[in-house]
Amino acid sequence: MRANSNNTEENKALTLMIFGATGDLTHRKLLPALYHLMAEKQLPDETRVIAIGRRDLSEEEYRASVRQSVARHSRSGVDETHLEEFINALSYHQMEFVSDPESYQGFKKRLEKIEKNYTQPAVRLFFLAVAPEFFGVIVSHLKANKLAVRRNPDHRVMIEKPFGSDLASARALNAIISDALDERQVYRIDHYLGKEMIRNILALRFGNSLFEPLWNHNYIDNIQITASETLGVEGRGAYYEQAGILKDMLQNHLLQMLALITMEPPADLMPESIRDEKVKALRALRRYETTGACAEIALGQYVSGLINGESVPGYREEKDVASDSVTPTFIALRANVDNFRWGGVPIYIRAGKRMNKRCTQIVVEFKRLPGINYYPEFKNQPPNLLVIEVQPTEGIHFQINAKRPGNGFVVDQVEMNYAQSSRFQGNVPEAYEQLILEAYRANSSLFTRWDELEQSWQFVESIERNCQPDSHHYPTYSPGSQGPERADLLLKADGRAWHEIELRTENIIKKGSSH
Ligand code: BG6
Repeated sequence: MRANSNNTEENKALTLMIFGATGDLTHRKLLPALYHLMAEKQLPDETRVIAIGRRDLSEEEYRASVRQSVARHSRSGVDETHLEEFINALSYHQMEFVSDPESYQGFKKRLEKIEKNYTQPAVRLFFLAVAPEFFGVIVSHLKANKLAVRRNPDHRVMIEKPFGSDLASARALNAIISDALDERQVYRIDHYLGKEMIRNILALRFGNSLFEPLWNHNYIDNIQITASETLGVEGRGAYYEQAGILKDMLQNHLLQMLALITMEPPADLMPESIRDEKVKALRALRRYETTGACAEIALGQYVSGLINGESVPGYREEKDVASDSVTPTFIALRANVDNFRWGGVPIYIRAGKRMNKRCTQIVVEFKRLPGINYYPEFKNQPPNLLVIEVQPTEGIHFQINAKRPGNGFVVDQVEMNYAQSSRFQGNVPEAYEQLILEAYRANSSLFTRWDELEQSWQFVESIERNCQPDSHHYPTYSPGSQGPERADLLLKADGRAWHEIELRTENIIKKGSSH
């Protein structure tokens, strides 16, 4: 059964216009995603892609660069016939989209000419894969030139993150955008919402009778959301100095995961119903309003050291990073969703760069039994765990206690595993494929609505305002570790511990048992 799709959309033609034709995101993610969508016939036959860039490139030069990027970054190799079909549907348009407002009229003529040849009404999908300071300018020009007309649901704009650099700038950007477009024409990207296992959270919660009755403070002890990366800032020091882990990961990806895990069941699966529930969860998220509240937060910065035998620089030694920078590259926190369902259940979040493993996982730890039959000693009782592994491999694991086979009666921890990565090997679309497809289908549930974003900014700003460590005693951690010691102490103070960052699905695949 497909949820959330709007079939009438699927007959429409599509013109996808990418601002930022030569950028990294376009070449690494968008063009390979479009190639796969077209090769798999997910988009209408009448699809045209116009890549818009400021560089003076010929059509042939641009197409040659696209061939290379698709071959390098495609998730499962390239079929020459499909690649040629894709290249034929693609064109390059050179224009000074920031400094020359007049150039939009020339572009409009080209677009209208393309649209005249369609046999069906067309969707205009503008993808802004440019530096964030250009988002507002481009949207204003699209409005002024009637390329995107307010209240026309077929005119849609996809906007990359970051949406603002703080609450005030996000509000200012939103004011420009909402002057040009209706909220339902705006598709704010959080690429985590396009990831398979993140999309699976709602199916798991609301498609099974098993979990939802237990999904509350009566049965759940705590939830742990981890997004650990082994990479450092990878040449993006200048951006990262402004963003830090709070704006780069927490404000968007991590809070979106939290919202999906904690939200109430929506009345239906329509985008607005889902987003209504997500925003309520984010609103219930307790802010860090006092310095005392900051005891629930551990920040840190990686220093130089070895990771997988390779020596790497510390954050303060990275290019474009200040030598006394206080930008955090790690955060662990205890979040509290103050509503009836979650009162008293800590939601621990941690994320960091240069950690020991690349892994995004959500661990739901259920409450322990009273200790009457098995495990009379309460503290030794292994809890039931539900682990949603988002990446690098995808899977769902349920840890239960069962009798070990043989004489005697020993109760052991065992896992029921669903290793999605082995069941659907090679066929799992990348996040951007899903995002582009769903924007074409007008399914905005995979995109962040303005009020969600506003709540997320408020939460993050409460941390920034109140919880800055002293620059001289900035907590650090070694590359290849699980973050600073304070992250462990945070849970220890609550009588708990972090669950291992474990690549469960990968281990199962290696052992050769699929699901
Ligand atoms: C991006 C951040 O939004 O997400 C990066 O800007 C981060 O710093 C990346 O590395 C993580 O995404 P993924 O899909 O690799 O988990």
